[in-house]
Amino acid sequence: MAKCEIKPGVYWVGGIDWDIRNFHGYTTDRGTTYNAYLVVDEKVVLVDTVKHYLFDEMLGRIREIVDPSGIDLIVSNHTEMDHSGSLARMVELCPNATVVCSPNGEKNLRRHFKKDWNFKVVRTGDTIKTGRRTLVFQLLTMIHWPDSMATYIPEDRLLLPNDAFGQHIASAERFDDQLDWGVLREEAAKYWANIVLPYSEQVRAVLPAVAALSFDMIAPSHGIIWRSRIPDILGMYSRWAGNETDRRALIVYDTMWHSTGAMAHRLKRGLEDAGVPVVMRRLGITHLSDIVTDVLSARLVLVGSPTLNNGMLPTMGEFLTYIKGLRPKRRIGFAFGSYGWGGQAVGEMEAVLKELGWEMPLRGVNLKFVPDESELAACREAGRALGEHLMKQG
Ligand code: FEO
Repeated sequence: MAKCEIKPGVYWVGGIDWDIRNFHGYTTDRGTTYNAYLVVDEKVVLVDTVKHYLFDEMLGRIREIVDPSGIDLIVSNHTEMDHSGSLARMVELCPNATVVCSPNGEKNLRRHFKKDWNFKVVRTGDTIKTGRRTLVFQLLTMIHWPDSMATYIPEDRLLLPNDAFGQHIASAERFDDQLDWGVLREEAAKYWANIVLPYSEQVRAVLPAVAALSFDMIAPSHGIIWRSRIPDILGMYSRWAGNETDRRALIVYDTMWHSTGAMAHRLKRGLEDAGVPVVMRRLGITHLSDIVTDVLSARLVLVGSPTLNNGMLPTMGEFLTYIKGLRPKRRIGFAFGSYGWGGQAVGEMEAVLKELGWEMPLRGVNLKFVPDESELAACREAGRALGEHLMKQG
């Protein structure tokens, strides 16, 4: 294997998961990588490991550089198994190594592996000298687990923030200037929307301290390494953490006999009358993890479902359950649907939007059976009113 030296004496030794297409429910159409880094100094440091089935790939890369038994420190920035899945086998190869982790990391690793390894617990501002280098630690609590932390090496101007700033991309290239910017931006956005979004407040709190560090490379634990687009990715994180959106609308709907679908398309015409760009997503056709990426940029989100068995369709229930967990803020919401009798779906959807704290300037539209032309005209009017409300906002 060719060595991949990202800074003098610092090597990428990760694994490339070309085949993965579902990462705990998140579709990874481009695969992913699990990035581990080897720092060769007077002490040899391995920062993070890889998913268990890529252990041999990681070990092969390490062996190109050092004898693994000579590793002195293994930094575990995060316990989730895509990064700790090879930790136990790695410790077996270097039993005298110290496992460096956050306070919650130690609890998690002890609980997970049931091993009494040589732990060194670190907190924000703690340092470890490795020779000419210093490892500086920054807790990233709840970005996105309680144990998450970043390792910073000031002498190399290198930040190793684990999941933060990641993207799920498998590629032969390692750096941001070697891949298409549109692809990177899209995958970084999808990663934020599906992984980091619930912790926007935590990112807002810690981002200024991270951005104030002096670095010219951000090497996350998934995807490419940032070296040419650092201001872009920091700017995007700042914008996403502030729940900043565009004046655009997203209509997420499902339909049984096309009544709710007809309403969705007429609402779209009304929004367009007001000059609003609209994205349409029918549930069951576009994957949830892609729809939430659309939610990331849309300030206005319309949700539509007919009533089935006294409630919303299961597809809409799944979508709103996912959205409730991700907790996007500062959105405008609107619910619509059709029914034969009962008609509970619109009320159920509105209850979720209210729970999210979204602004709801218009009452939902709930139509019985097949909408006639005057009812569809009312949908268009509702779309126009929502669009005008949106366009008045800054
Ligand atoms: Fe990439 Fe939270 O693990």
